[in-house]
Amino acid sequence: MTDRSDQPRARGEAFRTIWQKPDDPRIVQIIDQRRLPHEYVIHDLKTWEDGANAISEMLVRGAPLIGATAAWSLYLAAVSPGGGDRISLLMQAAEKLGSTRPTAVNLQWAIDRVMAVVAAGGSQDIVGLLQREATAICDEDIEISKGIGRHGLALIEEISRQKSGGTVNILTHCNAGSLATINWGTATAPMYFAHQKGINIHVWVDETRPRNQGSQLTAWELAENGVPHTVIVDNVGGHLMQHGMVDLCITGTDRTTRSGDVANKIGTYLKALAAHDNGVPFYVALPSTTIDWTIDDGIRDIPIEERDATEVSHVYGRTASGMATVQTVAAGSPVMNYAFDVTPSRLVTGLITECGVCEASEAGLAGLFPQRAQRT
Ligand code: MRU
Repeated sequence: MTDRSDQPRARGEAFRTIWQKPDDPRIVQIIDQRRLPHEYVIHDLKTWEDGANAISEMLVRGAPLIGATAAWSLYLAAVSPGGGDRISLLMQAAEKLGSTRPTAVNLQWAIDRVMAVVAAGGSQDIVGLLQREATAICDEDIEISKGIGRHGLALIEEISRQKSGGTVNILTHCNAGSLATINWGTATAPMYFAHQKGINIHVWVDETRPRNQGSQLTAWELAENGVPHTVIVDNVGGHLMQHGMVDLCITGTDRTTRSGDVANKIGTYLKALAAHDNGVPFYVALPSTTIDWTIDDGIRDIPIEERDATEVSHVYGRTASGMATVQTVAAGSPVMNYAFDVTPSRLVTGLITECGVCEASEAGLAGLFPQRAQRT
C-alpha cells in the first residue's frame, strides 16, 4: 500500500488523478481537468471509448496520466465487452487508444505493457489481470515520481545552500505536476519535496498558451499545497533570467530520445534557449517510461501533435456570469497549433529520473538504465 501521508493534496485531501469508483469498480473516475481551476468535477469513464475520448479531448493529459488512462480503458474494454470476442475487442481498443495523442510515448508504453499481460494470461481471468496491471501502473508511477522528487531535491538544496537559505526561484512550463501523473508529478515532485522540507522556494509558472496548463493546473495545484508561486505569461521567462530572477528551470517531457532530446509542451525549447544564453540550469524531469529507446534524433523522429485551431483562436474561462468561451483571434485569420516542440540535448543541463540525475546524452541515460539502453 502506498504511503499517502505527505503526498500533494487537492482540496485538502490525498488524491489520485484516476481511480475505480468505490461503490462500482466497473466505473473508472477522473478529474475533468478542462474545468479546473474554477470547477472540480469528477467524470465517470464507463467504456473504453469514454477513456479514449478523455485522452483526446484532454479531460486527462500529461504523459504518465495519459498512459494510465489507456491502461484503465483497456480494463473497461474487458469489463463491458458487449458482443463478440473479448481479445479482438481489446486489440481494437488498443489500436484506437494508441492513436488518441501522438507525442507522449507513455501512451503506447502502457498499452503494450497491458496487452503483453493479456497475451501471457492464457485462460486466466482477464478482468482481474487488467485491473491488477492498471493498478500496478498507477502505484509504480507514484513511486517513480517520488524517486524523481528525491533526486531533484538535491539540486534545489544545493542552490539553497549557495544562496544561504535565500529563496530558490524555479521556472516551470506547462503542467508536469500531480495532475499530469497519478500524484506528485515529475517537474513538481522536487518542488513538493523541497517545500515539505522547509526550503524556501518560489515557482514561476508559465501560463502555457494555448490551453493554459500552467495558469490553470500548475498554479492551482501549487496553491492547493501552499507552494509560493507566480503566474507569468509565456514570454516573460527570458526577461526574468536576464535579471537573475530564475535559479533553475525544471520542466517535464512527453518523449525523450535515447540521446537525451526532449519533446515537451510547445515553448519549452524557447525557455531552454533563454536559459542557455543566461547560464541558468535547465533540467528536465522524467519517469523512465518517457524514454523512447527506439529513436535518437528528436527533431527528426518525434511526432508532433497538431491540435484544433480553436484552442488558439478561443479562450475558455470564468466571467462574472459564469464559464464562457470567447474568441480572441480576428475572424478569418488562419491559425496553426503545434502542441509540442523538441529541445535538443545540448540545451539540457541534466535529466532528473527516478534512478538519479544524468547528463542528457546516450551515455548519461545508459549509465542509469544499462539494460534498456542496449541496442537490439
Ligand atoms: O498537452 P499536455 O497537457 O498533455 O502536455 C503535457 C506536457 O507537456 C507535460 O509537460 C508532459 O506531459 C510531462 S507530464 C509529467
